[in-house]
Amino acid sequence: MCGIVGYVGPRDAAPILIEGLRRLEYRGYDSAGIAVMTANGKVFIEKKAGKLTNLTEHLNGDTPAGGPGIGHTRWATHGLPNDTNAHPHADCTGQLALIHNGIIENYVEIKARLVAEGHRFISETDTEVLAHLIETKYHGDLVEAVRAALGEVRGAYAIGVMHTDHPERIVGARMNVPLIVGLGDGEGFLASDVPAILEHTKNVVILHEGDIADVTPTGTRILSLDGTEVQRDTTEIRWDIEAAEKGGFPHFTLKEIYEQPHAIQESLRGRVAANGSVRLTELDGVADRLREIDRVYIVGCGTASYAAHVAAYLIQEWVGIPATMQVGSEMRYSPPPLDERTLVIGVSQSGETADTLAPLKLAAERGAAIVVVTNVVGSAITRAADAVCYLQAGPEIAVASTKAFVTQVLVLQMIALHLAGLRGTMPSNRIRTYGLALRTLPRLAAQTLKLAPQIKKLAQRFAGARDFIFIGRGVGFPIAMEGALKLKELSYVHAEGYAAGELKHGPIALLDPETPLVAIATQGAIYEKVASNVAEARARSAPVIAIATEGDDQIDHYAQDVIYVPETPEAISPVIAVLPLQILAYEIAVARGTDVDQPRNLAKSVTVE
Ligand code: F6R
Repeated sequence: MCGIVGYVGPRDAAPILIEGLRRLEYRGYDSAGIAVMTANGKVFIEKKAGKLTNLTEHLNGDTPAGGPGIGHTRWATHGLPNDTNAHPHADCTGQLALIHNGIIENYVEIKARLVAEGHRFISETDTEVLAHLIETKYHGDLVEAVRAALGEVRGAYAIGVMHTDHPERIVGARMNVPLIVGLGDGEGFLASDVPAILEHTKNVVILHEGDIADVTPTGTRILSLDGTEVQRDTTEIRWDIEAAEKGGFPHFTLKEIYEQPHAIQESLRGRVAANGSVRLTELDGVADRLREIDRVYIVGCGTASYAAHVAAYLIQEWVGIPATMQVGSEMRYSPPPLDERTLVIGVSQSGETADTLAPLKLAAERGAAIVVVTNVVGSAITRAADAVCYLQAGPEIAVASTKAFVTQVLVLQMIALHLAGLRGTMPSNRIRTYGLALRTLPRLAAQTLKLAPQIKKLAQRFAGARDFIFIGRGVGFPIAMEGALKLKELSYVHAEGYAAGELKHGPIALLDPETPLVAIATQGAIYEKVASNVAEARARSAPVIAIATEGDDQIDHYAQDVIYVPETPEAISPVIAVLPLQILAYEIAVARGTDVDQPRNLAKSVTVE
């Protein structure tokens, strides 16, 4: 949802900005642009619609020397994705340049006022009002001008601002959208996310809501919106830039699919003991509240909502209290009953999804206990929480989620077992049996990924299909929906996921010999019911691909193609069953020639509602 980067220091800014944008492009790729202060004290701005390569090809290596500089990669909200609406935007004097991620909600009224005062607007964006508003407040002190301007705006923003009067400074500010400051040796950085600056520094300050950062080569001063100086901790990033590289894989998506055994291992670390007992020490601080709760809502969007859906089934079964999945974008506007006996678990890879954050804040206001499951240390969602469980999956760069989904499911499974232990709703030997099963997952996931050549052949056979139907029951139902979403996102093929038992209530009308049906038919309590649903589809001549458990000698009566995955207890099976679906979606996308890592119209972190 837009990426921003800024640099101030002795080096030429442009190459640092362009490399930073390359690493932030997963956040949006409707346009890219940079602003650099040149040696003669002017602001050079170049921006182009489309991906970063359009900008770099246009520049053809001909970037001005000098700095500071700011850069932006856009996911369009207000105004078409064209050159004019691309960031950076300038004020009327051309001395100030600004980049922005977020939405200024009251931009229409501010713009009308500024236009009446004679300001000339060039773009259709909400962002441009910020440049002109800061211009009106500027009397020599850039930080003060930014602070005064932000006092008048409503909405979400992470901004970077530079001005020709201040060759040794960039100013950043954040509200409900991520922004970090990088502390280099005699240089300073601003960025939406760590990979943009990791090759230059591992020391970052994660700004809080309402922080304004005055970044100079010699240090950074942070003010709150009321002008008081505040202290923020420096965080040392513990992973290397290689983690954000493709490492020989053709796509980040494929690399992240193959990283899953390791990601699972990391997620389990410190949480499931060698004897199988499960304890998340992160939840110790809220143990008393977790003993008292009488219902659970698990909230997330897209893929995260499917992980939440799996968890709802498991918590209900293992803990014996009502547990439901809530889609983030809906929950806030038709909230379920929320009080101090409610647990709300927020699930978000990025930790920045506005649609997930909003209902969590509402739930906190109504007294609910908030536990969050996220991948990004210090992300906004962590500040809305009473307890935080990190995925420990390493950075996920590809826009479509793979290893984050698998580790979300895993962490939620561990939370469900932890709750069952805490509340005594499951005997400890049974918890340990599940814990031991979880400990086999890194090995079983690696074994499952070896099926890739078989799945690739299938993908090539079915790459021309116009529609796919995915079905599953119980914990297989969310996996069917995740399989369908992955296929839609990566390959732009229409796909729907249904509860297998629902097929006969309508969707079965869609089936014909041209419409493949993918069935999650792994072993479990309702395996036979799923098999019947598959048979119903087969009788309508749909080509059936089944994901089944090794040793199943029945399923090939119903399905022409079977992908056999290793056996696990049913509750644990989603972590394994989803892997072939990820590979299927990836290989169909490759066969169709789509942009796998950056599918059209999407952005990785969706920071607007
Ligand atoms: C799908 C996908 C999205 C995200 C959703 C929530 O592959 O990536 O559906 O899962 O936008 O994102 P987070 O988890 O960052 O809140």
